Amino acid sequence: MTRLHGRTAIVTGAARGLGAGIAQALAEDGAAVVLADVLPQVNDTAAALASAGHRTLAVHLDVTSEENWHLALTTAVQSFGEVSILVNNAGITINKDFESVSIDEFRKILDVNLLGAFRGMQAVLPSMKRAGGGAIINVASTTTDQILSIAPCYGASKSALANLTKSAALHCAEQGYGIRVNSVHPGTHATPMVMGDGMATEHPAARAIIEAIPMKRMGQPLELGRVVAFLASQDASYMTGAEVFSDGGAVIT
Ligand SMILES: NC(=O)c1ccc[n+]([C@@H]2O[C@H](COP(=O)([O-])OP(=O)(O)OC[C@H]3O[C@@H](n4cnc5c(N)ncnc54)[C@H](O)[C@@H]3O)[C@@H](O)[C@H]2O)c1
Repeated sequence: MTRLHGRTAIVTGAARGLGAGIAQALAEDGAAVVLADVLPQVNDTAAALASAGHRTLAVHLDVTSEENWHLALTTAVQSFGEVSILVNNAGITINKDFESVSIDEFRKILDVNLLGAFRGMQAVLPSMKRAGGGAIINVASTTTDQILSIAPCYGASKSALANLTKSAALHCAEQGYGIRVNSVHPGTHATPMVMGDGMATEHPAARAIIEAIPMKRMGQPLELGRVVAFLASQDASYMTGAEVFSDGGAVIT
């Protein structure tokens, strides 16, 4: 498919996991994709897509740094033209319950998961306006609807992100910018965040997670990527402020 041909996209947290799958899906749909991450591994991920014939570029971006955002955006525009797709995917979690987690750990999660996306949205708006419109997709989580006692700050950050997404969507619609802003809410996907280093899906902990999913499997990064590509495309031209779940039926239960 080439429905994103001529578009420039930035994907944060694109070195691995869901971000890498999102970058692949956008590239396969024709977009020029800037893969942004703090991990040097992002260079290899971008190079693999480039060797498959896609227009990609890797940049160092820590989403907690406004200066990094400015540099990443300048590089993207100079390389591929005005940015009309932003995917705020970079995220972290700390698995500690309500009594154990510290205020500094909570601040750290908010700084990446919530304020990181806020910085990104503010940074790209001028470029998107010059492009004549665009699409922002914020990667939230099913934890906006399913509360996990082991990750209270993570869930709070994602619920706030979904709320912020709607505010941004409303603002852009009211201003007539032609910029749509939506959130995707992944269920459990087999990524380093969930699987750690090398845990197999046969591991008892992984089996227990899978057993609780109605479709009895974890999602694959490219599956979420294709949902994001749809939201970025004109096929979703009347969608803004929406929460889109891709979770194997997890939030039904
Ligand atoms: N995997 C899941 O099951 C799942 C479910 C729901 C939501 N999510 C969300 O999807 C997103 C991606 O998760 P994942 O599972 O691929 O995680 P992951 O840990 O495998 O990948 C996250 C990426 O974000 C990058 N990152 C972290 N902090 C950053 C920063 N400050 N600046 C730039 N990049 C940074 C990491 O280097 C990494 O490459 C996250 O926002 C996560 O909360 C994941």
